[in-house]
Amino acid sequence: MMNQIHSIKGVKDILPDESGAWQYIQQKARDIFHTFGYSEIIIPVIEFTELFSRSIGETTDIVEKEMYTFDDRDGKKITLRPEGTASVVRAYIEHNLRDTAPFSKLYYIGPMFRRERPQAGRYRQFYQIGAEVFGIGHYMIDAEIISMLNLLFDSLNIKGVELQINSIGCPQCRPAFREALKGFFADKTSELCDNCKRRFEFNPLRILDCKSTHCHALSEKAPKTVDYLCNDCLTHFNGVQESLKTACVPYINNPKLVRGLDYYTQTTFEFIGGTLGAQNAVAAGGRYDNLVAELGGPSTPAVGFSIGMERLFSLFDSSNVTKQSPSVFIVALGEQAQQQAFSIIIQLHKEGISTVMDYNGGSLKSQMRKADKLNSAQVIIIGEDELSKGVVVLRDMQSKAQIDVPIAEVVNRLRK
Ligand code: HAM
Repeated sequence: MMNQIHSIKGVKDILPDESGAWQYIQQKARDIFHTFGYSEIIIPVIEFTELFSRSIGETTDIVEKEMYTFDDRDGKKITLRPEGTASVVRAYIEHNLRDTAPFSKLYYIGPMFRRERPQAGRYRQFYQIGAEVFGIGHYMIDAEIISMLNLLFDSLNIKGVELQINSIGCPQCRPAFREALKGFFADKTSELCDNCKRRFEFNPLRILDCKSTHCHALSEKAPKTVDYLCNDCLTHFNGVQESLKTACVPYINNPKLVRGLDYYTQTTFEFIGGTLGAQNAVAAGGRYDNLVAELGGPSTPAVGFSIGMERLFSLFDSSNVTKQSPSVFIVALGEQAQQQAFSIIIQLHKEGISTVMDYNGGSLKSQMRKADKLNSAQVIIIGEDELSKGVVVLRDMQSKAQIDVPIAEVVNRLRK
């Protein structure tokens, strides 16, 4: 026996039994996004590494230790995208989308790659459904994009998901908060985990969302971002909250919600799934008003989110999604019947009628069992008897009614 090859650790197959529900979720997202005026953007899976290090941030976990990066044959550094926002911003600038529309509402669906430690809900290849808006700085668009997500979860009947929001300010007010935070942790650094010891130097905000229970407890009384917001940021944050109330989207304030990517300004939010365990953010996002300019474009406000598809899928009850099954199964008994069946199946496929047959043949009983298992609505049976009479038997699998139909008429009849 040859050695079996397994999939790579942390990647997941979506099996035929699951793919119907998987597609159903994506279609729901597309439909709702279209209602809100979004268009799809299809972005590449590979980008120059610099795109991610400059946007997500050199001192973030993603850039420091999770990216799949390799040297291309010409020596350029290439990375498998760990997220979609940076690529959408790159495309927005590169193709001057700002000149073609007053504002852009874009969405994307596809795989992302991060070399994290695999565990339930955390994969090395995972899918995101993301949406980004460029060119609107008003707080209402933050509330609108959050309410769009909320509507998607409602329409998928997702229960037990809690929206948490925060504001992390802007380059004007954040330095004061950063200093306050450093002051707070200054006499506690020896008690911080090794990661947070480094974060204290380079990225102290990240200490606030450290998953270590000890760091979590230490930051319990830490200063809150909202207490350091400048007037503009505070007005924006209050506006987001009022608009969420108007939209009837329940939320709670989480002053520690600082997010793990460096590009955010002002609003940050996460949808937390109560039953998801340690990896509990099913969707996350926020405003990033400086990223377009930081990546070489014109100063453009922006806001967006991404949903973790696997996590959303695990919260979704797929039992109501109808499984794909062929409309027709052809049972052919014997070589001659099979020849006749083959010409019928070719015609049915041309008519767009989903039809299968088992070319391996077998007894009537065994083929009927397969038709039953595949849940096909109708069965065409062709045996020697039928051939000699120039008919097929057409069986309705639900009512069990059977009739003889002339071979020449069967396609027409099924088309109706
Ligand atoms: P993120 O928080 O890194 O944000 O990821 C968004 C979502 O992707 C998470 O809430 C989670 O559901 C899912 N996710 C992340 N990593 C994994 C993983 N290893 N396995 C499974 N699911 C995962 C972003 O990526 C930002 N680009 C979101 C955004 C868009 N902000 C503004 N626009």
